[in-house]
Amino acid sequence: MADKAFLELEGKRYEFPLVKGSEGEVGIDIKTLRAQTGAVTLDPGYKNTGACQSSITFLNGEKGELRYRGYSIDELAEKASFLEVAYLLIFGEFPTAAQIQQFESDIQKESKLDDKLVQIIDSFPSSAHPMGVLASATSALIAFNPSSVNVSSEEDMYNAIVKIMGKFPILVAYAQRKLTGQPYVGPDASLDYMQNFCKMMFSKEGTDYNANPIILDALNKLLILHADHEQNCSTSTVRIVGSSHAGLYASISAGISALWGPLHGGANQAVLEMLEAIEKDGGDTKKYMAKAKDKSDAFRLMGFGHRVYKNFDPRAKIIKVAADQVLADLGVHDPILDVAKGLEKEALEDQYFVDRKLYPNVDFYSGIIYRAMGIPVEMFTVLFALGRIPGWIAQWREMRLNNEPIGRPRQIFTGETLRPLNR
Ligand code: CMC
Repeated sequence: MADKAFLELEGKRYEFPLVKGSEGEVGIDIKTLRAQTGAVTLDPGYKNTGACQSSITFLNGEKGELRYRGYSIDELAEKASFLEVAYLLIFGEFPTAAQIQQFESDIQKESKLDDKLVQIIDSFPSSAHPMGVLASATSALIAFNPSSVNVSSEEDMYNAIVKIMGKFPILVAYAQRKLTGQPYVGPDASLDYMQNFCKMMFSKEGTDYNANPIILDALNKLLILHADHEQNCSTSTVRIVGSSHAGLYASISAGISALWGPLHGGANQAVLEMLEAIEKDGGDTKKYMAKAKDKSDAFRLMGFGHRVYKNFDPRAKIIKVAADQVLADLGVHDPILDVAKGLEKEALEDQYFVDRKLYPNVDFYSGIIYRAMGIPVEMFTVLFALGRIPGWIAQWREMRLNNEPIGRPRQIFTGETLRPLNR
């Protein structure tokens, strides 16, 4: 392939260099486009825009492949712990036994919340959506950690990372306890990361808590599968907020807000509510398939479709198998799983979905597992956020270390031209 792209505009020919990625992806470097031609590109939703060069996550939407730092998601979900994957994403290499031990112990030392922060969370109404609570509490963390991270100091950066990795599970667990009217349970330093998280989430007052290994294993897998997904909406938000040199907590808090929307991470809650509604309505999947295809109906098949995947979302494949396994192991029969499988079967055979290459995405089956664990539906996106923290950190760190310029798109103005104010 040539190493230049050419553009002809108003009779003049311009050339632009190509940038090639390690997996053969090609980008046209248009940094000088406006300076040379006076024109800008227009790409709503950034469907064709590469916003950065990144070495963290690779995904091939046509083939349905996903890799973190070169390792396939299937292998990581099978063989690694969530903290190992977090380390891999953030620092670039799979940790040695000594490195992961140190990382876990440093995170554990930061596993505490200031009492005043607990009071702030307590002051939210019990009806508050936990994603709102989480975004606010993450912002409030700034007040308790006011110094900004010095990105040229590896040590400063590391300290900020272990701090947020330590505090986030407590915020998530407390958001669930608040939602379910249970008192705060603080961290237990004698437990590992995942066991400690489960204890904070699920333990009942006055009883000993032993984490169920099926739940531990399933949560580990789900968090790994959600840990990064290159330049999605919330990650781009984190990078763009961070590009103004706003701090790590502020950037992540913005990412949480972006994730909340039903077209993004909020889809896992929306899927379960949709499946419940279909089941309540007699399980008539055909009726809902027809609604999803009807352009005059706002209904969409939640958990289907993806901006990048035009094939099976590899995460959905793993989660579907895990859902069967977890429900069988926990002895749960959930009719909603049957509705989901029915919808999937119909969609995969339906011309509308086939033509548009709409497949189940990561959110289609995850909620069924969370529900089997007894987690309330409002918490599903919060758990997505817990999984995504390492990805947001890794992307924020990469963006700052690469000294990327402030994110500031252009526009094509279509409003009124200059007019006098006659008054
Ligand atoms: N149900 C019915 N039709 C759909 C769906 C769906 N779920 N998704 C896309 N389409 C149709 C859409 O109407 C359009 O049809 P046409 O070409 O006739 O106008 C075509 O497929 C392309 O859709 P699009 O909205 O232009 O595609 P997009 O890349 O802008 O949107 C999406 C991707 C994920 C927002 C969209 O597929 C969607 O809304 N899905 C449901 C919500 C969902 O499950 N979101 C989770 C995404 S994965 C996890 C994450 O990002 O957090």
